Amino acid sequence: MTRVQLTELREGGSQDIASVNAIMQDAFDPQFGEAWTGPQCLGMMSLPGVWLVIASAEGEDAGFALAREIAGDAELLLLATRRSAQRRGIGSALVRAILAEAQERGAQQLHLEVRAGNDAVRLYRSEGFDKVGERKDYYRGKTGQLFDAQTYARRLR
Ligand SMILES: CC(C)(COP(=O)(O)OP(=O)(O)OC[C@H]1O[C@@H](n2cnc3c(N)ncnc32)[C@H](O)[C@@H]1OP(=O)(O)O)[C@@H](O)C(=O)NCCC(=O)NCCS
Repeated sequence: MTRVQLTELREGGSQDIASVNAIMQDAFDPQFGEAWTGPQCLGMMSLPGVWLVIASAEGEDAGFALAREIAGDAELLLLATRRSAQRRGIGSALVRAILAEAQERGAQQLHLEVRAGNDAVRLYRSEGFDKVGERKDYYRGKTGQLFDAQTYARRLR
């Protein structure tokens, strides 16, 4: 498969909230209740140790990853690629950028939570994450249905 030419991976900030929101609403299927609201994202971005990476492809913002590092422990909070730009390596590039930055910030490990059955699990496994736990009924979908979460982690040093 042809990989898209990534024009840019850059650090983002609160000025990118409209882009983040648009990508998130496009990427996440509302039936699973995994997406955050704009205010939730903005609130998280204002906390210490949180950083945002934006990927653009062909001149447009196409994906983002939000992460946090506190006391040697890093977490990938959100990862999304616009539907029209998926399966071209953007999600993997974002995860690698987060892994590198987490290591740079002194984290010992990067962990994350993902809905059981989310296709993103394949991406995480291929980037070296191992399953470390489960959280029953963690996500609430738009009709009230509950979905389990799985936790994954990758050691950084
Ligand atoms: C998960 C997500 C970010 C992946 O983004 P992406 O840019 O398509 O990822 P990549 O192109 O780097 O995919 C890398 C690998 O992950 C796996 N993968 C990604 N999406 C997949 C899918 N829908 N089905 C099966 N495997 C998938 C594949 O192994 C893929 O490699 P391949 O294309 O060579 O087969 C994107 O599907 C998305 O935004 N999903 C909705 C939001 C979400 O669920 N985020 C994760 C939880 S926070």
